[in-house]
Amino acid sequence: MTILVTGGAGFIGGNFVLDWLAEPQAESVVNLDKLTYAGNLETLASLSGDSRHVFVHGDMADAELVTRLLAEHQPRAVLNFAAESHVDRSISGPEAFVQTNVMGTFKLLEAVRAYWGGLASGAQQAFRFLHVSTDEVYGSLGPGEAAFTESHRYQPNSPYSASKAASDHLVRAYHHTYGLPVLTTNCSNNYGPFHFPEKLIPLMIVNALAGKLLPVYGDGMQIRDWLYVKDHCSAIRRVLQAGRLGEVYNVGGWNEKANIEIVHTVCDLLDEMQPRAGGLSYRGQITHVTDRPGHDRRYAIDARKLHGELGWKPAETFDTGIRQTVSWYLDHPGWVARVQSGAYREWVQAQYGQAA
Ligand code: NAD
Ligand code: TYD
Repeated sequence: MTILVTGGAGFIGGNFVLDWLAEPQAESVVNLDKLTYAGNLETLASLSGDSRHVFVHGDMADAELVTRLLAEHQPRAVLNFAAESHVDRSISGPEAFVQTNVMGTFKLLEAVRAYWGGLASGAQQAFRFLHVSTDEVYGSLGPGEAAFTESHRYQPNSPYSASKAASDHLVRAYHHTYGLPVLTTNCSNNYGPFHFPEKLIPLMIVNALAGKLLPVYGDGMQIRDWLYVKDHCSAIRRVLQAGRLGEVYNVGGWNEKANIEIVHTVCDLLDEMQPRAGGLSYRGQITHVTDRPGHDRRYAIDARKLHGELGWKPAETFDTGIRQTVSWYLDHPGWVARVQSGAYREWVQAQYGQAA
């Protein structure tokens, strides 16, 4: 048996593939990734020589390629992690988000629909298309408002969240109209190993260590609900295993924190684990900068459906997860240096003779 994963060289997809294949009896993974700036094969280096991992450099919007991969590998599930995922980039260049998140998901759905339609009835019933999405589709909460449930109305505010919302709607429509057996997960902010240092937590860690400023947008009182990436991966595995067809599951760990609190925590852990020469705190590098346009004030996930129906709960608290994350970055200076210098992309250039 095989599963096909898109975006498995990215942060969450990469962690998912590593966790999946850590199980000796795991089904093989066909990993289709376009290797944009966010895709990093070094994340998957420990799988080199593992015949259960088949990496394919390509675009999920390439219908011919996806159709061929589906026919060749006959996966029993397709998990869609691939996306443009950074809100700030979606503000400066929204088109890539529409292309990848909307058109890419659409093209993938079309290829999967044709493949699924041609399966024998047993395989057709067992097949799953799992779409990985975000809490940002629900928009922004006020201070006293209840956390997002699955029935919260969609009100995306950034080009990123709007493009993810559109992809969620397409996935829903493919179930409603064609009966495609889909599952959707909407998760809160992730953090953990192999996170590209453009997002808040890894950026603060690598900037702090490099002696650079730690840019906090606006007053730093925006709230995100943080989940350790491996807990997100276990939730996806559980939904794939037992989720009800056509259903949406919100994923989160009840960990609402203001950004400034996150930055303080990162600084305090670094002060403990790798103190600055001279004894000053990393907190001294914090600087408040101009706020992000349209910045959502608060996200919070109500994960009771996933817990109640499928028995999932996170293994890490924020305290244990953030400590492991800071340690991971301290233990992997080579990974960080190659990401920052762009050297991680040279492999693709050498392998494929083109820029990624
Ligand atoms: P990421 O940006 O780290 O990785 C995205 C991956 O997709 C990269 O490897 C990239 O090369 C690949 N990719 C991009 N376009 C592609 C295409 N057309 N075809 C094939 N591959 C392509 O993103 P991430 O943080 O790992 O997020 C993964 C998914 O989880 C996304 O759908 C995102 O919306 C969702 N999500 C992320 C978070 C978070 O906090 N990071 C939270 C909830 C949901
Ligand atoms: P980010 O990691 O980009 O995730 P998202 O925007 O998808 O939630 O940002 C998390 C929060 O941190 C968000 O409120 C924006 C803020 N932020 C900063 O204050 N400074 C930064 O340099 C970055 C990247 C983010």
